Amino acid sequence: MSQKIKVVSPGRVNLLGEHVDKNEGKVLPAAIDRAINLYAETRTDLILKLNALDLGESVEIDLSRLDAKLDSAGNPLRSWAHYPAGVAWSLQSGGFETRGATVEFTSNIPMGAGLSSSAAVEVAFAVLWQAMSGWSMDRLTLAQYCQKAEVEYAGVNCGLMDQFACANGVENHAVLLDTRSLEFKSVPLPKDTAIVIADSTVRRSLQTSAYNDRVADCNTAVAAAHKRNPAVHSLRDVSVAEMDALKPQLTDGVYRHARHVVGEIERVDQAIRCLETGDSKSFGKIMFETHASLRDMYEVSCPELDALVEIASCFSGCIGARLTGAGFGGCTVNLVERSKAEAFVQYLSDGYLSKTGLKASVFITHASRGAYVE
Ligand code: GLA
Repeated sequence: MSQKIKVVSPGRVNLLGEHVDKNEGKVLPAAIDRAINLYAETRTDLILKLNALDLGESVEIDLSRLDAKLDSAGNPLRSWAHYPAGVAWSLQSGGFETRGATVEFTSNIPMGAGLSSSAAVEVAFAVLWQAMSGWSMDRLTLAQYCQKAEVEYAGVNCGLMDQFACANGVENHAVLLDTRSLEFKSVPLPKDTAIVIADSTVRRSLQTSAYNDRVADCNTAVAAAHKRNPAVHSLRDVSVAEMDALKPQLTDGVYRHARHVVGEIERVDQAIRCLETGDSKSFGKIMFETHASLRDMYEVSCPELDALVEIASCFSGCIGARLTGAGFGGCTVNLVERSKAEAFVQYLSDGYLSKTGLKASVFITHASRGAYVE
């Protein structure tokens, strides 16, 4: 008898710790109340039949022949299909069964907007195969298999943050993950605040290659730092002063990109102390500093994201604002006094429209639980 399963898998917003998860930094994301809903029915063969309802596209994939990245008819897989296929491929590499299924899915996480729509898909399918196939795995390991799918199958050299947040989100909390020790804990959000997301609606092409280029630059800086001090294995091991001392040996771009990461790793530690002492104001100040660093040093912002942050900074109840996720377009995350959140949504939408002529999608979000079978 076939079995029917529904999986809900959320997107995520990152509050702090941007572009540090490839360098063993700490990250502070939260799963959000936007999610992919996946409806599956098991099959007796090894075919994965996918229907991406939002795209109006479907594909059949043979789960016993994933290496070639082709559909059952021999055509190259569309980019969206690399995520479910990649997760099956990754799980199989660890010896986990992935049963055939017919799956329909729909998502209200904006695509390519820095809210981890692709990680949500990966985690949804991993949770589905776990439910269908009966094996068990903790959520950190599950996130690691999904990350492997994205890096080795879809070709984005990403860190663990997104898959981790989609799999391990906790209602009303952010989740602090140390990407070096892999220790994590949920932390309450700053008191009496709301998280507001603003989608600039701008999407940059070449996002994947630019992301991978930044990672490569940081690896170049790590190699130079390692030469000086063999104890250095990632930018987590490098202080701001050490980074600055390395400057003459690096190109300007490599220095600035790595300098962002080193500074951001420090900022997250400061921000954690702010959360512990209930100092939301200083936490918000750090968010603004992170944005400036992503704009000027890591170079992943764009005029539209800068406009959103600038407008937000003029609103008296806005505690902090910055771009969230990989950047190159997409969304900002805003920490706002809860009683002023609705007014802020209106203010930011109006201000962005008059400044850029573009209509942003601005919404209040709630920190949610990670992916689950409903
Ligand atoms: C993308 C990657 C993450 C992380 C962020 C930037 O979302 O998938 O691993 O590097 O960018 O913080």
